[in-house]
Amino acid sequence: MRKTPLTKALLGGAVACTLLLTMANSLADTAEITEQRQAGFKTMGKSVKAIRNALKAGDTTTPAVKDAAAAINQEASQLAQWFPEGSGPESGLSTDALPYIWKNTEKFQRISQDLISASAELVSALDAGADIDAPFKTVLKTCKGCHQSYRAD
Ligand code: HEC
Repeated sequence: MRKTPLTKALLGGAVACTLLLTMANSLADTAEITEQRQAGFKTMGKSVKAIRNALKAGDTTTPAVKDAAAAINQEASQLAQWFPEGSGPESGLSTDALPYIWKNTEKFQRISQDLISASAELVSALDAGADIDAPFKTVLKTCKGCHQSYRAD
C-alpha cells in the first residue's frame, strides 16, 4: 500500500486510538482495584467492629464472631494484590493510599503478612474456644501500624 498523506493520517489515527484505548483500559483497571481494596478494608472495619461489640457483650462464641475473624483473614490474604503501581493518589481517584506504599514496599508487605498471621491466630483462638483478647489486640495493632505509615489521615 502506498502511503498517501491520507493513509498516513488514518494509520496515525489508528495508533492514537489504540494508545488511548490502552490508557483507558489501565485506568479502568486501576479504578476497579481501588474500589476492590476499599471494599475489602470496609469489610475488615465492619468485622473488627463486630468482634469488639461481641467482646463488650461478653460473648465471643457466636458464629458471627467466627465469620468476622475469618473475613479479616480472607481480606488480609488479598491485601498485597490491592496496590498495583499507579493506584496511589497520582491516579486522580479518591484514595487515602500514600505514595510511601510504593517507596517502602518491603515494610508494607511485611505488615500485610503480619495481619495474615495475626488474624489466623485469632481464628485459631476462636476455634479453640480460647480467650481472644491478646490475638485481637495484635490484629488491631497491625491495622493501626499500617495506617500510621501508609494511609492519609
Ligand atoms: C498493610 C497496610 C494496611 C493494613 C495492615 C490495614 N490497612 Fe486499612 N487501609 C490501608 C490503606 C493504604 C488504606 C487506604 C485505601 C484507599 O483509600 O485506597 C486503608 C483504608 C482502610 C479503611 C477505609 C476504607 C474506605 O475506603 O472506606 C478502613 C475501614 C480500614 N482500612 C480498616 C482496616 C482494618 C480494620 C485493618 C486491620 C484488620 C486494616 N485496615 C489493616 C492500609 C492498611
